[in-house]
Amino acid sequence: MDATRSANPNTQKTLILYWSATGNTEKVARAIERGAREAGANPVLLKVSEAMDVDLHAYDLVFLGSPSYSYMPPEPVLRFVKDRQEFHKRRGDIKVRAPRLPGKRAVVFVTYSGPHTGIDEAIPVGKYIGQLFAHIGYEVVDEWYVVGEFHGNLLHSTEGPLGDIRGRPNAEELANIERQTFSLVSAGHG
Ligand SMILES: Cc1cc2nc3c(=O)[nH]c(=O)nc-3n(C[C@H](O)[C@H](O)[C@H](O)COP(=O)(O)O)c2cc1C
Repeated sequence: MDATRSANPNTQKTLILYWSATGNTEKVARAIERGAREAGANPVLLKVSEAMDVDLHAYDLVFLGSPSYSYMPPEPVLRFVKDRQEFHKRRGDIKVRAPRLPGKRAVVFVTYSGPHTGIDEAIPVGKYIGQLFAHIGYEVVDEWYVVGEFHGNLLHSTEGPLGDIRGRPNAEELANIERQTFSLVSAGHG
């Protein structure tokens, strides 16, 4: 498949992966799914636990989402990233200088509550996950950091540096994710 062809949303294969314990990251994943469909893609949406054997290279546009747990991805996401790293390493896909593969794009999305230091608790998660894609030839075209209520922790949902974050991500934020996804998938028209 050449780059032009793989960039057509009708043929571009789109994968949305996520892990979510209290639903925030799943809401973002579903907004991405809606945006991708509106742009003409036929995305596959999976939890990382359902995708432990996935060959990422079978997809042209991959979204991978995670919450922040102690400013890192939670254990299931870490395991997924490490397993895929090992898989691609064994297959010889990880090359010095990480050359880009034409038409391969990735977006990392992170939900976080930032109760202590705000977005700085989410950025390491996005950078860590992004490195998997960069190492296997994807261009990481975006990192989306989305504030999410800290379910079950009123103090962290109301008194942190981000203020009262109950109910987030809200409808407007999710609509914005949907729009951004639409643009990104549409930009793949070539
Ligand atoms: C065990 C645990 C640890 C967390 N640690 C952090 C943290 O270090 N920084 C942060 O910003 N949010 C932290 N959070 C909040 C979550 O990242 C945030 O609420 C996220 O949106 C949850 O995603 P989910 O609903 O998809 O599971 C933590 C949540 C839990 C349950």
